[in-house]
Amino acid sequence: MIVLRQPRRETGPQPIPELLHRALFKGVSLLPPGGQAVVLRRYFDWWHRSPDPWRLQTDAYEQRKYATTLQVLPDRPYRRILDVGCAEGAFTHLIAAEYPEAQVTGVDISERALNRARARPGPPLLSFTRADLIAYGQPGEFDLVVCAETLYYLGRDDRLRLASARLVELVRPGGLLLLVHPWPEADRLYTYLGDPMTRVLHHVDEDAHRPFSVTVFQSQPGPDAAAQP
Ligand SMILES: C[S@@+](CC[C@H](N)C(=O)[O-])C[C@H]1O[C@@H](n2cnc3c(N)ncnc32)[C@H](O)[C@@H]1O
Repeated sequence: MIVLRQPRRETGPQPIPELLHRALFKGVSLLPPGGQAVVLRRYFDWWHRSPDPWRLQTDAYEQRKYATTLQVLPDRPYRRILDVGCAEGAFTHLIAAEYPEAQVTGVDISERALNRARARPGPPLLSFTRADLIAYGQPGEFDLVVCAETLYYLGRDDRLRLASARLVELVRPGGLLLLVHPWPEADRLYTYLGDPMTRVLHHVDEDAHRPFSVTVFQSQPGPDAAAQP
């Protein structure tokens, strides 16, 4: 496994707004999965009432995260790429431009976010679909599944476990799961990825005002592994 680190900086406990944020979404996850999805959809449609609420397309920190992610991602001939929790597609458009031969799908729970993602010109194989990540897709459908800045919305551990199982299931044998989240919280968020996946790359950027990690897991290669890229 490759472990890369930026120069060390002191990392303290999570700031109060992030702690309140996590508590809010833990509360929402007390609902059954269908009810949670309805609340999340309404919440994120409201959050996207004006364009790019997190300034994902312009903020220097976000651009740094995207550049780092593309830099450390193993370069493979990906045919099918999924970006879960893609918001308005800032990173989805970047990865689609990087791999124009790949069929790239962005998925988000907010239709409003996706309408903005679709409105931007992109390569012909790029598309966007509204879904709850816990319920999306077919097993083994993707060579690469990306999930960034989204898992902390799942709330309690049982939902995180469900979401983790879903993400793992979507990756084809030998394929990759690429995760980007605040660090060190990321280590907790990836607790349930478990046995079927091997961590093959872990890059921590501690030098940002909000440290983050880029982690790549690989699923077990299938019996016909030699035939796959
Ligand atoms: C902070 S944005 C992350 C955007 C993007 N991944 C990035 O890093 O640039 C989180 C997105 O996750 C979406 N989201 C939250 N819960 C979701 C769920 N259960 N299923 C699908 N999308 C979800 C929200 O609608 C929001 O657009």
